[in-house]
Amino acid sequence: MSAILPPSDRLWWKQPIDKVEWAWIAIAFVWGMIMFGMMIYWHIYGKQNLSNEAYKTTPELFAAKAEKFIAENTIRTETDQDIPVVRVPPGGDGYLIARLWAWYPILELEEGQTYKIHLSSMDYNHGFSLQPVNINIQVIPGYEHVVKMTPTKKGTYAIVCNEFCGIGHSWMLGRIYVK
Ligand code: CUA
Repeated sequence: MSAILPPSDRLWWKQPIDKVEWAWIAIAFVWGMIMFGMMIYWHIYGKQNLSNEAYKTTPELFAAKAEKFIAENTIRTETDQDIPVVRVPPGGDGYLIARLWAWYPILELEEGQTYKIHLSSMDYNHGFSLQPVNINIQVIPGYEHVVKMTPTKKGTYAIVCNEFCGIGHSWMLGRIYVK
C-alpha cells in the first residue's frame, strides 16, 4: 500500500492481516504475559526492589511529620555535619526528607528490628539509593513512600542520590546507622 493509491484503496484497516503479522502479534502478546508474570515473581522473590506503599501528601504536611519525629527522637548531633541523628523506635516509623541537596536527618536503626521508613521530597525528584545493599526508590514530591526495612547487618550505610537533581546532585549524600 502506498500514498500513490487512490484514497479508496488506502483503507489499511480493511486489508486482511498477514500471517507474519499474526505471528508477531502472538509473540508480542506472549512476551507481554511473561513480563507481567515477572513483575509478580520479582515482587515475591526479587532481592533488590522493596514492595513499598505510596500516599499523596504535600511538602508542608510531610515536613511537619518529619520535624515532629526529629524533635521527639533525636539522640545527638553529628558534629562534622551539624545534622541530627535520630533513633527510630524499634518497630516504629522513621521519616527521611530529600531536598536540594541533602538527606535529612541521619537515621539510627537496630539490627534485626523492622521499621517503616517514610520518604518524601521537598522539591524535585530524587533517588534514594542505599549502599552497599543497593536498595533503590524514587523519591517524588507530593508522595509519601512507606518502605518496610529490617536491617540484617550492623554498620554505616550511605544514601546516594541516584536521580539527577541539579548542580549539587553528586554531593547529595546521607547516612543510616545500624547498631
Ligand atoms: Cu537529589 Cu540527585
